[in-house]
This record gives sequence, C-alpha cells and structure tokens, in this order.
Amino acid sequence: MDRFRIEGGRRLEGTVRISGAKNAALPAMAAALLTAEPVHLTNIPRVRDIITMGKLLAHMNARVSTPDVPPIDLTIEAPAICEAEAPYELVRTMRASILTLGPVLSRLGRARVSLPGGCAIGARPVDLHIKALAQMGAEITTEHGYVNARAPGGRLRGAHIVFEKITVTGTENLLMAAALAEGETRLDNAAREPEVADLVGLLRKMGAQIEGDGTATLRVRGVERLHGATHTIIPDRIETGTFVVAGAITGGDIEITGCAPEHLAAILAKLRETNVVVLEEAPGRLRVRGAKKLLAADVTTEEYPGFATDMQAQFMALMTQARGTSVITETIFENRFLHASEMLRMGADITVEGRRAVVRGPTPLQGTGVIASDLRASASLVLAGLVASGETIVDRVYHIDRGYERIEEKLNALGARVERVR
Ligand code: UD1
Repeated sequence: MDRFRIEGGRRLEGTVRISGAKNAALPAMAAALLTAEPVHLTNIPRVRDIITMGKLLAHMNARVSTPDVPPIDLTIEAPAICEAEAPYELVRTMRASILTLGPVLSRLGRARVSLPGGCAIGARPVDLHIKALAQMGAEITTEHGYVNARAPGGRLRGAHIVFEKITVTGTENLLMAAALAEGETRLDNAAREPEVADLVGLLRKMGAQIEGDGTATLRVRGVERLHGATHTIIPDRIETGTFVVAGAITGGDIEITGCAPEHLAAILAKLRETNVVVLEEAPGRLRVRGAKKLLAADVTTEEYPGFATDMQAQFMALMTQARGTSVITETIFENRFLHASEMLRMGADITVEGRRAVVRGPTPLQGTGVIASDLRASASLVLAGLVASGETIVDRVYHIDRGYERIEEKLNALGARVERVR
C-alpha cells in the first residue's frame, strides 16, 4: 500500500492544469452501454475509478481502448452486451458501478448488479434508483447482495418520477434508463450538478431527446435506438477547488488552468469570504493568492449549486489556519467528518457534534502519521500536511488515487515536497 511522505511549510507557486471530471467521466462511460456504436470520450482523468469502470464494462463484453497519455482518450464499443452482470469484486471498490444498472436494463431488458454496500462516509443506499426504475415498469428483486432487474416485454416505460431526495447518480441512472424507454419520462427534484448536465450533453449527441438540463425537472422522450458520439468531459470542479485550497493554505500564488470556474461559484464565493484572493484571469484560468489575514467562515454543504460536500474536508483543513471559529455543517452524508479526528492528531482544534464541526483557529499543525478514510478526506490530510511542521505520512493513499490524477506530481510541480513511498 502506498503512502505519501509530505514535508510541510513550503509556499506553492506556479501553474497547475486540471484534469477531466471523474464524476462526469464515469456516467459517460456507462452511457456507452446504451449503443452498439463506438463512443469516443476525451479528457478522461487517469484515476483508479476510471480503470475500475473500464474493467466493469469489459466484463460486460464492451471493448474499451487502452488509455493513452493524458488527457486520455477512450473509445468504448459495446456491439453486444453478453454477460449483463456487475460483480461484487468490482462494485465494492466503487459505488458508481451502480451507474451500469440503468443503461444495461434499458438496452437488454434485464440487468444484474451487485449492491454497492456501505462505505466510510455512510450507508449510501441505492433505494431511490431502484424505486424509480420500478416506476418505469422494471421488476426488481434484491437477493444474495445483487439487484436483479427485468423489464417485462423487454422495454422500460416512461414514467413521472419525483425523487424524494436529490441524488446525483440516481438522476444519471434514470436519464440513461429513460433514453431508450417507451414514451416520456419526467424526473422531478433531479440533481442539477454540472456532471448531470454533461451526461445530458453526451446522451443528446447519441440521439437522446432530453430537455431541462441544469434544472430540477428533466424530460426525456424515449427513442428506439441511440448511436455513437464523440464527447469531451468537463474539467473536474473538485480537483480545481482542492488546488485553490492548496494555494490558499500555503499562502501561495498559483495559476490553475483548464478549469471551469462557473462550476465552482459557491466554493469560490466562500473562499473569498475568508480573504483568499481568487481571480478569474481568463476563461478557464484562475489565479489564487493566499490571504494576508485568513478569516474563519461558516459553511453548510448542499446540493449543486450550493457548496459541494466533496469540498467540505478540504475547507476544514483551511479553517484550521483561519482566525476565528468556523462552523461546518454537513447535510448530504451522515458520517463525513472522519478527517477531523486525524486533523486533531495534527494539532487542530475541532469539535464534532453530529452533523456539525466547530473549528477554532488558527492552530499550528504538526506532522504525524495519519490515515486516509475516503477520497476527499485523504485530499484534506494532504492539504493539512502542506502546512504542518515536519513530516506528515498519509497512509492508504489508494483512496486519493481513486479520484485525483497524479496529485503528488502536480503539487511537487508547484513547489511542494510530497513523496510517494511504496
Ligand atoms: C455523487 C458523487 C459524490 C458526491 C455525491 C453528493 C459520483 C460518482 N459521486 O455520489 O462524489 O459526494 O454525489 O454530491 O458522482 N441516497 C439515498 N438513496 C439513494 C441514493 C442516495 O438515500 O438511492 C442518499 C445518500 O445516502 C446521500 C444523498 O442521498 O445521503 C445524496 O447521495 P447521491 O447524490 O446519490 O450521491 P452519489 O450519487 O452516490
């Protein structure tokens, strides 16, 4: 298992380029299962979850081209999906595997996907995906840890679905299922994340008829067949936000290129509230300068366009260095403060009560051994390590490799000292 050895206390300077969004690339790859023709995807990030999704698609008999140098171009071709099953060995490492359920079911009329199970940040059920597919006529049973789904007559029917709770992959799954269904599907209380809109863009290129992207109501008119397409994945807004914090927490001066600042409005507004200087120098280009006096700010995570839960841990790392008290409220996941106890061990002053964490700062952090518990928590510990005195060892960096492309190389190019130890 790899670890990072971080030598803290170095100010970051220079330019970093953002990769494609993992959370947009995963549904785009799953969407390729909807057609027999090739789907070409560009700007795919070179991260572990993409490899896992590639394996899953290959297991279902799709041909997945070998990843090239970054930005990766991928071609996926699924002339016939043979074994419509997503096995547990693959699914357990990546919850987004559930994204194969919608497309396989609507293409083949049946699907079998392992239940993802829990993960460090909470129970994360898929009940909303299942309920919505059942409304489209699917007969679904869950047994022995698998979801078995069948569309009577081989085809799903359009339906009016009102999601009880906003779900990102749930919305994506249903969009893909509805694209080939009979009749019209209306999705209310749909997720408005840019990754959902990116999927709509791809599906439309494939011949799907969808309206309402970017809003909470999506209308899909089902078609008989979809065709191949070429699509460029949007930049990763969470990687962008993570580098903004890296620049800010080290009091640095960095440029971030290849990003989409319009997808980070709430995150950038919050960082400006703390006195971090964030300038949009040109389209797709941000300049970040550390605050002269970093101030505490409260934040509550929300669905898009609110402050993303995937940036909560990184923001907490920054708040350990801010003057004042910051109250961080997590509303999306029930158990997403595991990084707080590791930051405490580094000298932070944080109290967690249920869904609320209170951070008092600034506190000098000291390097020590910490354990990464999930993807974004591990990123926050790396950020904390960048300002800690001495050496920080972040264990289990496979979590970070799931979603960040060569983070240590990108940080080192900005002047950090992060060594991967095998
Ligand atoms: C996606 C993102 C993840 C991000 C999350 C919230 C991908 C691949 N992952 O995850 O990085 O942190 O959105 O922005 O895009 N829920 C249910 N039943 C369901 C589905 C969800 O109760 O059937 C709950 C979840 O437990 C959670 C909330 O709804 O509390 C939101 O989850 P959801 O939006 O579905 O997250 P993901 O799509 O899994």
